[in-house]
Amino acid sequence: MAYNLLKGKKGIIFGALDENSIAWKTAQHCYAEGAQIVLTNAPIALRMGTINKLAEEIQAPVIPADVTVAADIENLFTQAMEHFGGQVDFVLHSIGMSINVRKSIPYYENNYEFTHKGFDISALSLHRVLQTAMKLDAISEWGSVVALTYIAAQRVFPDYNDMADNKAVLESIARNFGYFYGSKKKVRINTVSQSPTRTTAGSGVKGFDGFINYAEKMSPLGNADADQCADYVVTLFSDLTRMVTMQNLFHDGGFSFTGVTQAVIEQMEK
Ligand code: NAI
Repeated sequence: MAYNLLKGKKGIIFGALDENSIAWKTAQHCYAEGAQIVLTNAPIALRMGTINKLAEEIQAPVIPADVTVAADIENLFTQAMEHFGGQVDFVLHSIGMSINVRKSIPYYENNYEFTHKGFDISALSLHRVLQTAMKLDAISEWGSVVALTYIAAQRVFPDYNDMADNKAVLESIARNFGYFYGSKKKVRINTVSQSPTRTTAGSGVKGFDGFINYAEKMSPLGNADADQCADYVVTLFSDLTRMVTMQNLFHDGGFSFTGVTQAVIEQMEK
């Protein structure tokens, strides 16, 4: 059901690769709530993915941008503002990639070239996006930026590998940039820490099936899915959450604050 929560708002959505992507669902939900969208992804992802299907469905232009290239981000904001005829009201950063994870290189043997690349794409990119937006004054007052993260930023999940470090920095950038962007322009910045979700990036983590089943059993409400994540992000883009900024917000069915559940105890007793 739609509530018109984003009526008249305009936003940029990074990271819709295919219909499982959290960004894909978020774009659909934002559109259903009345927003106008610009979609973006890395040029290679645009060639491999199916983003044009989504673009048609939600009447959104697609502007290629590799999030590690400053000129691409500048071009993206400039073109998006031309398209909208003014500033954007929200931005979703839904981007993650680790070559160490992809190549199953354990954390304690990480290849630092791969680490640098993953860090640039998964964490520093948020800073680059925000710095560019601030320079171009591309986000409206009370605008909202959300980046997606995972609880491995706070606790050890061994196979999450160097993505854990990337997420810790991502959350820190949201907090620190949130201070400056909030003070200067009343733009708010938050991270949403989502349950494990079956997507291309998610399924790349070793032992993902065990991981997602464990989280399901360890969450009083069960795992949150991508559609539910999209709903939550809509609220953060809406005017109903105007005073929320610099937060890491868990969207995980209660997983983050649960010590143990009856379902896990029963499993251990078997
Ligand atoms: P996904 O694979 O659908 O999305 C990842 C996106 O990052 C893709 O669209 C990819 O093209 C984009 N990307 C990679 N390199 C890029 C570059 N250089 N420039 C621009 N874009 C680039 O997977 P998912 O799961 O939807 O991931 C979205 C976000 O959600 C990520 O930050 C991920 O870490 C986070 N997340 C995912 C969870 C999961 O279990 N799937 C759990 C918690 C957070």
